[in-house]
Parts: sequence; structure tokens; C-alpha cells
Amino acid sequence: MELLLSELVSRNRHWTNFGNVATYIPELKNANKDALGIVVVDIEGNIYKAGDYETKFTIQSISKPITLMLALMDYGPDHVFEKVGMEPTGDPFNSMRKLETINPSRPLNPMINAGAIAVASIIRGKDNEEKMDRILQLFRKISKNPNLNINENVYLSEKKTGDRNRAMAYFLRDVGIIEGDVEAILDLYFKQCSIEVTCEDIAHIGMFLANHGVIKETGEQYVPKNITQIVKTFMVTCGMYDASGEFAIQVGVPAKSGVGGGIMCAVPNRMGIGVVGPALDKKGNSIAGVKVLESLSKELALSIF
Ligand code: DON
Repeated sequence: MELLLSELVSRNRHWTNFGNVATYIPELKNANKDALGIVVVDIEGNIYKAGDYETKFTIQSISKPITLMLALMDYGPDHVFEKVGMEPTGDPFNSMRKLETINPSRPLNPMINAGAIAVASIIRGKDNEEKMDRILQLFRKISKNPNLNINENVYLSEKKTGDRNRAMAYFLRDVGIIEGDVEAILDLYFKQCSIEVTCEDIAHIGMFLANHGVIKETGEQYVPKNITQIVKTFMVTCGMYDASGEFAIQVGVPAKSGVGGGIMCAVPNRMGIGVVGPALDKKGNSIAGVKVLESLSKELALSIF
């Protein structure tokens, strides 16, 4: 397996030349544009690594399915889906145009920024510190990495420049989707996006989802199965934003991308996959990462469809 992964990384590395690192969060400019790495964790617990798998990156939007699990555990689907819908947008991840035109005014799904900010607004905790602790606790448990933490520079960089998210959050308060201190809600959202990870961390999270919320080693049902099912469905329909349809055809597994260059996949009952490649395509997905996943899916017949 490691041989195959190395071969796929070599075969697809040139794609990094056709993408660019995210620059709208200034600190992300410092990422290594040429990096490409992959880790697979299979259902037996074997771990396979290739390429620049040690590259650290911020989790960014890959945090969205995980905070969604927390909100669903805190409140149940009925309450969460009053705040955010279940439909793909066909628009970029940070688009605001449908926020005002759909009726009732509500983010279309929890994978776009507006939806994830709505989810962040209902995470339970007496203050932001306790809320962030709960988020980190879940991330650490399911990534099997007790040392996960935020990258302070990326967090501060987005906090300083995230005006589009700020605009959407204030709009969401105006229409009654979120309540309370908008800056505190954004602060939590920026922090969840700034959690620093490696491919191995997100591969473990992918495996946890692939295993329906059960921690393999202990058999503990850590997140209810129906919640992991909801989250994986969102990953298929909205996880790669306005490229989700093409990705479902070419790769065919639940996946979530982030502008840090990561992609997390959950192949039900088989494996979790973590990929990093900070050079992004026009839709904000890792350009070489998607190509590696296309190749891997074909080699191992991973498509769930
Ligand atoms: O809110 C943002 O714009 C970033 N913190 C996360 C966006 C993101 O990762 C989109 N993914 N491809």
C-alpha cells in the first residue's frame, strides 16, 4: 500500500504547479505550495504514509463536519436544522448571495462558511474558553492526537482580515439565525478553523466517521451513528463546495476540504484518508490532493456509488 501511495504522489505532484496557496488569510501564504502528502488509516488500524505527510496545516473547513457533530449531539437535528439547511448551494464556500435571496433567510448547509458560523453559535459552554475546550476535546479524541491545538498566527491573521465572514455573521444576527455576541461567535469559528493538524490526524477522523462513530480500539460509540451518517451525507453533497458533484463522480467518497490544503475522506467500513497539498484550485480545494484521490479511488475501487 505504501508503494502505491508513493507512486500516486509522484504521478500527481506536478499538479501543484497549477494551483495557488490561499492568500485571503495572509498567514496561509507561508504554506509550502509544492507539498503533497497522504496518510491512509484502514479499518484494521494499519497506517500507511507517503510524500510530505509530515506537513502541518490548519484544518480550516475540515473542522465544519466535526463542530456539526458536536452541535447535533448538544441539540439534536431538529434544533440544528432550524438554523441551517440541508441543501448544496452550487456557490463558493464564502458566498453570501443566497443568504438574502432564499426565504426564510437561513444558510443553505453547515459546510459553507455562513452555515458553519451558525453552527458555532450554538456550541454549548459557559464562555468561549469552555466551548473551545469542548471542540478541542472532540478533535483530540477522534484524531487520536491529544496534542492538537490552534495555530495562533493563523487564528490572529483570519481574525484580523475575516471581514466577509464578519459581514455574514452580522447579517445572520439581523435575520435571527444567530443570537448574542457576534465577535465572540466569530472568534470561536476562527479558532476552530485554526486547529493545526497533519494528514494522519485527519485520516484518523475520517476513519472514525467511516466506522460510524465507534472508537475502533475500545468499541465505544463516541458519537451516535445517525449523527455520523448525517455528517457524511453533507460531506458527499457539500464537502467539496461547488465541486462536490464532480468529486462524487471522480472519487465517490464522503470528503471535506479546507483552504489550508487538507482533504479528509471517510470510506465507509474501509478507511480514513488524509491528504495535504496547499496549492488550491479555483474552488478552494487542494488541486493535487483531488488528483491523488481520483487515482487512489480508481486503484482501490473506493467509490461508494
Ligand atoms: O472561513 C474561512 O474562509 C476559512 N476559515 C475556512 C474556509 C475553507 O477552508 C474553505 N475550504 N475549502
